[in-house]
Amino acid sequence: MSTPDTLTPVLTDNWDQDRSWTLAAYESQGGYAGLTKALKMKQDEVIEAVKASGLRGRGGAGFPTGMKWGFIPQDNPKPKYLVVNADESEPGTCKDIPLMMASPHTLVEGVIISSYAIRANTAFIYIRGEVLHVVRRLQRAVQEAYLAGHLGKDIHGSGYDLDLVIHAGAGAYICGEETALLDSLEGRRGQPRLRPPFPAVAGLYASPTVINNVESIASVPSIIDNGADWFSSMGTEKSKGYGIFSLSGHVTNPGQYEAPLGITLRTLIELAGGMRDGHELKFWTPGGSSTPLLTAEHLDVPLDFEGVGAVGSMLGTRALQLFDETTCVVRAVLRWTEFYKHESCGKCTPCREGTWWLVQTLARLEQGNGSEADLELLIDQCDNILGRAFCALGDGATSPITSSIEHFRDEYLAHLEHGGCPFDQAASTLFATEEVPA
Ligand SMILES: Cc1cc2nc3c(=O)[nH]c(=O)nc-3n(C[C@H](O)[C@H](O)[C@H](O)COP(=O)(O)O)c2cc1C
Ligand code: SF4
Repeated sequence: MSTPDTLTPVLTDNWDQDRSWTLAAYESQGGYAGLTKALKMKQDEVIEAVKASGLRGRGGAGFPTGMKWGFIPQDNPKPKYLVVNADESEPGTCKDIPLMMASPHTLVEGVIISSYAIRANTAFIYIRGEVLHVVRRLQRAVQEAYLAGHLGKDIHGSGYDLDLVIHAGAGAYICGEETALLDSLEGRRGQPRLRPPFPAVAGLYASPTVINNVESIASVPSIIDNGADWFSSMGTEKSKGYGIFSLSGHVTNPGQYEAPLGITLRTLIELAGGMRDGHELKFWTPGGSSTPLLTAEHLDVPLDFEGVGAVGSMLGTRALQLFDETTCVVRAVLRWTEFYKHESCGKCTPCREGTWWLVQTLARLEQGNGSEADLELLIDQCDNILGRAFCALGDGATSPITSSIEHFRDEYLAHLEHGGCPFDQAASTLFATEEVPA
């Protein structure tokens, strides 16, 4: 039986503290010690420490953070920028917004240290505008940081200047894709850019830019404060450190569980009090709806980049959405696919047209009006999107479909035999009252 000792609260350590979001509360727990230390280091030493820690991007793709910072050409005379990706819109993903709500200074401190390392004098946090309460909390934290001398001119007498701007987006999933985010930040419609050039060379305002996820940047103060070896002593061989695992759905105690990478879903479910009473795990997403579904067979897969990859899925954002046996997988997949259709930015044909066709075919199957040939048609439609779309949104849209057909083909067929959904809709707490499109 796992105990709470299995958890490694670092980012979440102060979340239950009284008024944890204030500067006073953050500093009373040692906050900004990492900044004090970083400002005494050379910029390249900070980059080297992040490289040595093994920190990999927490926004989904897992690219090594220190290596990304090292790509910024320091001989380029243009200004350098740090942009924090706080768009968090993937279905199931819900770690960055709680982090910014509970402890915005962890992110602000991370922004200052990271900007110092890459020699940026202006940084941005791009946050989705719908979470107005979080936007306000961040704005207040930035104001407190300016008043305390952590931001602005000549920070703590170091000679280093930094301005931090909070930018609220209008709420589009595609604006989380890093180059669409840059277009949106520049005031254009958010659509992905052709690469190369990569943002490190020509990003925001065609200047060298680092874009990192909230959790990646928020991990930096603890790495600098405690050392790269401390960070890399946690996790697995190629997936170092800790991360926030967000458990949602049919579990007794949903929430954020911060643990070393490599922990298993079995352990996390135990820590969360088990599946809801009397029910069993049927399927789950390891990292949000764009990561292929896994089943109860995969309870002991190490949740690190390599372990989840080895069973045909992706660690993604560690958004563990858990569904029990009352959930119709076809209906769940249809709902996700409607989301991708709605959020497709329209720039490329495979995704713009393909996601529309996916919804038509899936809805037909879900309503029991299709035929077995529709399953092959769905797979064919996915083949025409995967690897042919301009950005990863299109690829992501195919993941729940192909993986659900792989693991639950019989359930698709049962819809056809039954002439509709064979599930008792009222028994599921997730989709009980919703209508599916005609
Ligand atoms: C459609 C789409 C949405 C994305 N949304 C987010 C997001 O909300 N937050 C995020 O950090 N990364 C998101 N990403 C990944 C980013 O493009 C990028 O890889 C990430 O911000 C890099 O940060 P990291 O290296 O710290 O993980 C998204 C990617 C795609 C294709
Ligand atoms: S894959 Fe979809 S979201 Fe990405 S560029 Fe093409 S249409 Fe836009």
